[in-house]
Amino acid sequence: MSKSNIVIIGFMGTGKTMVAKRTAEILNMNFIDTDSLLEKYEEMTVAEIFAKLGEKYFRQRENDIAKEVANKKNMVIATGGGIVLNPDNMKSLSSTGIIIWLKAPIELIYKRIGSDENRPLAYERDFFELEEMYRKRYPLYEQYSDFYIDVSGKSIEEVSKEIEAYYKNIAF
Ligand code: S3P
Repeated sequence: MSKSNIVIIGFMGTGKTMVAKRTAEILNMNFIDTDSLLEKYEEMTVAEIFAKLGEKYFRQRENDIAKEVANKKNMVIATGGGIVLNPDNMKSLSSTGIIIWLKAPIELIYKRIGSDENRPLAYERDFFELEEMYRKRYPLYEQYSDFYIDVSGKSIEEVSKEIEAYYKNIAF
């Protein structure tokens, strides 16, 4: 199967969902978000899944969803920030998609998500705790991505246009 998908990875608060949505419009592709799909299947928000069923359950379902969306074509896929924690997710997603990392400094991320109660892994974590998580994940985003964009100071439109330019220039 050739790589007809674009997979957006990156830490919480880097704009993955908005950018994936806009990129899909620009490239006339379909948009899907792994967290939203999971919320739809479970009929619960991500925060509720974490609270009621736990992170382990969430990660198992996230793995099912990674496989499911990797089987689709012409998709721009927004992922949850922890998708890179399971190598099997990345194996599936990279078999059919190019992986783009939205990169932002932790200071900016903390400002955006520090007190977001819809993000169970960020809510009530102080700056240093979040920074520690960021430091652990950073090499994973680096390892799995084909391309990265530093999103600091850029609009959704600008980031999406950069993805368009990259996508149109690569040969499959
Ligand atoms: C998570 C990020 C969230 C969501 C869940 C876990 C993580 O997605 O999947 O709360 O482990 O980083 P966003 O990156 O869209 O916030």
